[in-house]
Amino acid sequence: MNTLNTRQQAQLAFIASNAELEVGHPDDCPLPLATLATTDGSEDYVSRVLSGGLTAHVYRIEAQGRSWTLKRARERCLVQNTDGQTSFLNEVQRRADLRELKRDPILGERLIGIVDTCYGSFRQGVLLSPWIEGDPIATWNERQLTQLFEMLAALLLGGLFEWDLCPGNTLDDGHVRLFDFGYMYRFDPLRQFNSNGTEMPQFHAAERFETRQYFAHLLALEQREESLALAAFALEKRIALEAYGRLHMELETRGASSTVLDWLAGIIGEWKHAMRGDLEALYLKEAWRSHWLDLHDDLSGQTCTASTLARIGWLERTTRERHGDLQRLLPVEPQRQLVEELRRARQLAERWQIA
Ligand SMILES: Nc1ncnc2c1ncn2[C@@H]1O[C@H](COP(=O)(O)OP(=O)(O)OP(=O)(O)O)[C@@H](O)[C@H]1O
Ligand SMILES: [Mg+2]
Repeated sequence: MNTLNTRQQAQLAFIASNAELEVGHPDDCPLPLATLATTDGSEDYVSRVLSGGLTAHVYRIEAQGRSWTLKRARERCLVQNTDGQTSFLNEVQRRADLRELKRDPILGERLIGIVDTCYGSFRQGVLLSPWIEGDPIATWNERQLTQLFEMLAALLLGGLFEWDLCPGNTLDDGHVRLFDFGYMYRFDPLRQFNSNGTEMPQFHAAERFETRQYFAHLLALEQREESLALAAFALEKRIALEAYGRLHMELETRGASSTVLDWLAGIIGEWKHAMRGDLEALYLKEAWRSHWLDLHDDLSGQTCTASTLARIGWLERTTRERHGDLQRLLPVEPQRQLVEELRRARQLAERWQIA
């Protein structure tokens, strides 16, 4: 068993207590709270039951002439680790933080893509938001990437780090929307890199997006034609670079430590260098990191999909064909060891496929 961090300990203690956490007031709900809290999808005000969520049951409901999203906590989250088991509480906590942050005179307008919370109650297991009439984002275009990075930078400045930017957690209804905050944690953006302090400099907003989502998209593009994947990578890096450049300036103005500023400048410098020269090498490095991390994320939660297997396929191919190039770019294990690790990962990923 891993040792628990301070946040996890506090959240488990909160869950074990009888304390309630509410966002907003039950009177703001379009239906009585008791009705919402016992909804199971069979009711006539439920117009859609969404099966995707691992943390919650998600329903589209119709009330007072509008559509709403009702998220009801599962008895037990399907993600089999502490962060999974605390994710509903975490989301209610973050909804409270986001409600505040959206009122911030500077950051607020950059957070219009964050869904509003009409009402939330941890003990009742209820989160109610306006329904987003949007589509999943299959191919990210310039507008979508720009909106996403703008929003992520504002969240960072507001002290919130989002870990789970997976395809199921982004929608577009003319604006990119975020609505699932089960794995968004607080941190101090002036002193820390992410919610793990300064211990894990490899994790940052662009990395999270690339790891959880974008490289799965690039992998599909690679299979059509490698130049398409490289062009999409160049677009994303250009937009991320602009956002990180502005973020660096804003962090500096707000008095961030040199540890944070130097770390961010290091990332910016590496990207700039690659954009002028060998973008293909950066692609290989970030693709390896993304597929590797995302694979281990899925294994840790025992929540694997067809996409997990596709990523393993990419890692296997790259280990076979490009181990020498990899070694020049990042610390990797010897080829034979990697082959063996990936063989075991494939076995587990096949066993832990979720419907
Ligand atoms: N406000 C909303 N408007 C429209 N659709 C939504 C909204 N909130 C959630 N959904 C849909 O419901 C699905 C599941 O919601 P959400 O991601 O919040 O649940 P979850 O159980 O926390 O997910 P997971 O733990 O698997 O990431 C989303 O992928 C999205 O398609
Ligand atoms: Mg989700």
